[in-house]
This record gives sequence, structure tokens and C-alpha cells, in this order.
Amino acid sequence: MARHLITSALPYINGIKHLGNMVGSMLPADVYSRYLRQRGHDVLYICATDEHGTPAELAAKEQGLPVDEFCAQAHDAQKAVYDGFALAFDYFGRSSSSQNVEITQHFARKLNENGFIEERAIRQVYSPTDGRFLPDRYVEGTCPHCGYDKARGDQCENCTRVLDPTDLINPRSAISGSTDLEVRETKHLFLLQSKLQHEVEAWVARHEADWPQLASSIARKWLNEGLHDRAITRDLDWGVPVPADTWPELAAEGKVFYVWFDAPIEYIGATKEWADQDPENRDWKSWWYDADDTVRYTEFMAKDNVPFHTVMFPATELGVREPWKKVDYVKAFNWLTYYGGKFSTSQKRGVFTDQALDILPADYWRYFLIANAPESDDSSFTWEHFTATVNKDLADTLGNFVNRVLSFSKKRFGEEVPAGGEPGEAEARLGEEIARLLSEYEEQMEALQFRKAAAALRALWSAGNSYLEEKAPWLEIKTDKDGAALTLRTAMNLIHLYAVVSEPFIPATSAAMRQAFSLTDDTASWVSQDEAKSLPSVPAGTPFTVPPVLFAKLTDEDLAAYKERFGGEHA
Ligand code: 2FM
Ligand code: ZN
Repeated sequence: MARHLITSALPYINGIKHLGNMVGSMLPADVYSRYLRQRGHDVLYICATDEHGTPAELAAKEQGLPVDEFCAQAHDAQKAVYDGFALAFDYFGRSSSSQNVEITQHFARKLNENGFIEERAIRQVYSPTDGRFLPDRYVEGTCPHCGYDKARGDQCENCTRVLDPTDLINPRSAISGSTDLEVRETKHLFLLQSKLQHEVEAWVARHEADWPQLASSIARKWLNEGLHDRAITRDLDWGVPVPADTWPELAAEGKVFYVWFDAPIEYIGATKEWADQDPENRDWKSWWYDADDTVRYTEFMAKDNVPFHTVMFPATELGVREPWKKVDYVKAFNWLTYYGGKFSTSQKRGVFTDQALDILPADYWRYFLIANAPESDDSSFTWEHFTATVNKDLADTLGNFVNRVLSFSKKRFGEEVPAGGEPGEAEARLGEEIARLLSEYEEQMEALQFRKAAAALRALWSAGNSYLEEKAPWLEIKTDKDGAALTLRTAMNLIHLYAVVSEPFIPATSAAMRQAFSLTDDTASWVSQDEAKSLPSVPAGTPFTVPPVLFAKLTDEDLAAYKERFGGEHA
């Protein structure tokens, strides 16, 4: 059986992420990992915070903290939110780890030995007052196009035009405000991606047929435009240092690697962090090195990350000339919008993941987000849609079914699953339907079609409701007590099946449903087709309890309060 290596795009360290970020990377990766684990696969799900680069330095400065301290705190804050969302990473690392430094430097040395790195001199803005070269976005000034006086050297936020720092009128340092700026020549390392173009093309050609169209079309577009050599070092204090043994001069100048060079390498680095904290994980390298077909590697990301993962990082891995595992399947997502507009971290528009958990438990969000994942197109978050979905699917279809069945049975038959009755035609039909929907669900999960998988899960829940309506045990009991017992026992078995198969989406609720039954031997990790047909896992006589309401119904007042707090209607 293949081993599954799974990674989700590494969230930037500078601040808590919004729901759009969650649905496009970590959450679907978690759902998929949980599903595969339940089906008995060997899974390693790795993620980490992406800690280097200018935004981290700027965020630290804003908070008046040294950047390493800022990152340590921000990492813990993000990790706490992901724990709240029940993301079951095998490891959640940090790209600033010593392991990542070591592997990134190793990659750079190898690329250099293989003739894929070159030192080139470029002209850059230098600030004598700050004693440093300024990256583009550290230079501020007046936009030559629209006159906005806080335009950044890479782009004007007001008119969105892309800029070069030398375009700015009255340029000044964003760090000190100093206007005493010069243009100086400085050396940087360039990765000669142009030399790797053909190899990357051949590699993409071998894989793209398996990828979703969104991923392959973006990879193609980049390859057609041609791979350009690019600078992979920066003049920053914070980052993976250029190794002094190979580039003593650049190392002495304090150059570090560009954040997008070391970030994807952290997928490997974090795996080593995972191994280093527990001797049981010593074979970490078997996941990454010489792994070939024994490991299936799936990456999750939003579409803006696709070029880096389908073209740039593979180019790096190919140029290293060592057998590092390359991605097999790239699951890419479009954007989740907030009322049709952009979720924006910098403008604080939309719902942030910590706020979401303040309002409602993770399962509400997990289900809604995955059921509406922006897979084939962008999808829009609205509070109206969210509350309607929670009420209909979670509270009515699933939650109410569970509570109705268990409370009614308890009232009429006591605290054990009732005995009596023989399965008949209705149960046979139900079994066929459940088996069919279960295999539909499995097929969609295996194809990483999350919306369709959610639809199949919802259909499984609905099938239980239809059965209950058809049999109407509250009427049946008046004339046929054994018949009612059979209906309720069958429905309780459905609850147990739902607990098992809903786990990837709503793990906490699933646990509550499973724990309603005191089964001595409840180890079944998944449900077979035969079990789906005959529903045998909860036998008569099994003690049970009625769990508290699984999903609260959201009221019109709740809806109004959410819209009031977060804004609605337009973006
Ligand atoms: O776009 C982002 O949020 C990046 N921090 C993703 C990095 S993914 C990986 F390559 F590290
Ligand atoms: Zn402008």
C-alpha cells in the first residue's frame, strides 16, 4: 500500500489567517488525511509557519518585538487556532528551524555545484541612515501615476500599478523615514531556472494529465512564458543565511535566501523537525529521499501558490540532482470571497479563523467550508448562506436525526438498543441505498472532489431521515412494538455509521455520536460495503446515552448579529 505524504501551503507568520486561507489549504488537507488514515493508510501530514521575508520583519517591527521573538509568539498563536479547528497535523513546524536552514543550504550548495547558481551584480536602493539595502517594499514615496503618497516600491496600493522603487517621487525609507537614499551595486545569487526549462517541461508533461485542470493550466502558462533566472537572495536580517563555506563574501555581507526559496524546502525541513523530536520517527528520510512510487505526495494550496509548486520548486529539486520526492498531485483551489469581494488580511475584511472559533465550534466551519470549497470556481461566503447551511444540513438533517432517534428510543425502550423485529424490505432498500451512497462518497474523496464528497455525505444523512419518515416509529409503536424496535435499532446503526464516515469533516461531533454507544469493541476504522448493507455494528442490548444537541440552530438574531459585527452585503 502506498504511503501518503500530504502538505498544505505554509501560512505566513504575519498574523492569524482568514477563512479563505483555511479552506484553500489546511482544512481540505486535514479532511483528506483523516479519511486516508481511517481507511488504514500510512499518512504523514506536514505543515509549518512560513516565517522569513519582509512581511515578518515588518510585522515584528510594528509590534516592537525582535523578529525571532515575534515569530515564536505568532507561531504559537497560529498553532492554537489550528488545534481549535482540529487540524490533525503529524507535525506543524517552523521554516526558521535549524533543520530547514541546514537543508536549504544543502540545496543551494548542490545547485551551485551543478552549475545552476550564478552571482550577479544588481543595482538596489541603499539607505546609509539604516545601514542597509532596502527591499522594494521598504521604499515608500509618491506614486508617479496617481499621486498617492504612501505608495510602496513594489506596488501602489491605491492604483494597484506595479512599480520599481526608482519610479517613486520623493522616495524614503519605510524603516526610518530617511530620504537620504542611494542606488548602489550589490551582488546576489541567481538561480538559473532558464537552464532547467526543458527538464521542468518534461517533468510537468509526465504529471499534468493526473492534475486538476486548475493546476496544469497555471503550470503550462508559466512554462510557455519561459522560466527566467531569478534572484534567490535578499538583504534582510532574518532568513536562512547564505552559507559562508560556499559564498564567503555574500555571507559576510549578511545576505539571506529569499523566502520563496526556503519555504517549500521547509516541507522537508518540518519532516526532519518531526523526526528530531521523537526517535520513533527516525526514518523521516524515507518519505522524501529515493521514495519514488512507494510514497504518493499530495500538495494543497490556493491558486496563487501553484506556479511555485508546479514549476519553481520542482526546478529547484531537479537542479539539486538528488532523488528528492516531487509532488504527485497538486490540489489547487480558487478564492473564497466575502460577499463577492476579497477577504483581506491587511484590510481586515472577512472572518478570521480565531474569530470564527469564538462564535461557533470548529465542526460548523469545517463542514460549511468544505461543502462550499472553491473548487471549480471562486465561491462566496455570506452569513445568510452559512446560517442556512448550518440549520438545514447540520442541525436538521444530521443533528435532529440523532437526537430524535435516541431520545424516542430511550423514552419508549429504555437505555439499551431495543431488541425485536426482523429486517424486511424497507431495511433491504435502505441498505442498498446506504451502500451506494457510501461508495459515491469514497469515490469523491479518493478523487479529492470535496464538494461532491460533502454532497454524498449529506445524502447519507438524508437517507436516514427518509427511512425514519417512511417507517414512522412513533406511529408504528402503537400497533407493532417489535417493528418500532427494529426501526429504531436500524436508525441507531445509521448513527454509528454516520459517526464513522463523517469523521473527516466533523471530528468532534463524530466522536460524540460514536460515544453515545457503549460498544466494547468499537475499533472499526471504516465501513465496508457489506456493513453498509446490513448495518450490524450496534447490536440489540448495547447501552447508549442521548448526547446533548449536536448543532444549535442559528436564529435570525444570530444572523443579524454576525452581519453587524463583520459587515455584510458588499465588500
Ligand atoms: O502564500 C503563502 O501563504 C505562502 N506563505 C505559501 C508558502 S507555501 C510553501 F511553499 F512554503
Ligand atoms: Zn498609484
